[in-house]
Amino acid sequence: MLKVRKVDPLYPDMAAIKEASDYIRQGYLVAFPTETVYGLGADSLNGDACLGIFKAKGRPPDNPLIVHIADLKELNRVARDIPDTVLRVITKAWPGPLTLILPKSSDMPKEVTGGRNTVAVRSPAHPVALALIRSSGVPIAAPSANKSGRPSPTLAEHVVEDYINDNVDMYVLDAGPAFFGVESTIIDVTKNPPVLLRPGPFTLEELRSLFNVDIVVPEFARGLGEADAALAPGMKYRHYAPRTRLVVTECSDYGSLIRLIHDTVIDYLNKKLRVALLITKETADVLATYPELSDIPVIMMGYKEDPYTIAVSLFDSLRSLDRINVDIGIAEGIEERGIGLAVMNRLRKASGFSLVKCKS
Ligand code: TXA
Ligand code: MG
Repeated sequence: MLKVRKVDPLYPDMAAIKEASDYIRQGYLVAFPTETVYGLGADSLNGDACLGIFKAKGRPPDNPLIVHIADLKELNRVARDIPDTVLRVITKAWPGPLTLILPKSSDMPKEVTGGRNTVAVRSPAHPVALALIRSSGVPIAAPSANKSGRPSPTLAEHVVEDYINDNVDMYVLDAGPAFFGVESTIIDVTKNPPVLLRPGPFTLEELRSLFNVDIVVPEFARGLGEADAALAPGMKYRHYAPRTRLVVTECSDYGSLIRLIHDTVIDYLNKKLRVALLITKETADVLATYPELSDIPVIMMGYKEDPYTIAVSLFDSLRSLDRINVDIGIAEGIEERGIGLAVMNRLRKASGFSLVKCKS
């Protein structure tokens, strides 16, 4: 059974937090908001409880979880041998949307780490998440709360949508929208130089200045191609995917991108397919001047000029695509700058790498 409780995102009702933390301590699951997306949490020190996460999500057992802590002093329950350079970064970055891969402590069960000798750990910058962890008294293991393969939940309604028909005991803390809308940045600091495994709200530009070294950015971190499973176990699975087919248009020049989107729509209409557009407000305004596109449904993806607005609505845009009755969604690619890198990684993966590029 799902038990949903609304709480204020900044000043959560402590009775609800207490009830949710009882679920955690008794080995049950709690879906809770973080600043990135909703997580599906369990007591990270209880291997059986963590197995419940895999079962509920339909997650492959070799895809490890992220462990969430509220206070730096809990870090040694989760990880060990943390170099001073990394500790200095953590002190500046946490709580915040930055996950680090570190050597695991002996307390971490194999269910959390997928049998690896490393662990992913972060401290979330969300009052509800921090209150839940503190009240539970244990580090909380939590992947994104979506069913495996679905877009990550940025609203409690998305969590309910994914599990409502399942026979699973779950407490859902509903604190409204997650703040950033894309999952945390993941960096592997067991490698030298550090390797970016997943771009997120903590930008590459910020990472480079904090670490003061160049960060390795593999192609898969840009959402271009499949990851090496040994390095990034979770990245090999199909992610974020709407059920509807999706293609992503990409051009470095904006005028050419507008033409490319226009021509791509016309191509699919000629093939008698029903098309929807996932585009920014600026692009929607330009395309509105083409009468031949006037009947095409538009899912608004925020403002090109402010990529944070795109990130925050991205997963809901992908879920919306499944709610309107079309054969294919055509998404606008954006610049890979700041949080734009995270947006492009998610969009390219959601499309199954179905990219339509300008002839340059
Ligand atoms: O923002 C977030 O990170 C959200 C919230 C809930 O904190 N969580 C999240 O978890 O996105 P999840 O499971 O959807 O993504 C975690 C990723 C997976 O791709 C997993 O493979 C990777 O972290 N990961 C976990 N442990 C790892 C490890 N030891 N080495 C490499 N990658 C690891
Ligand atoms: Mg996930």
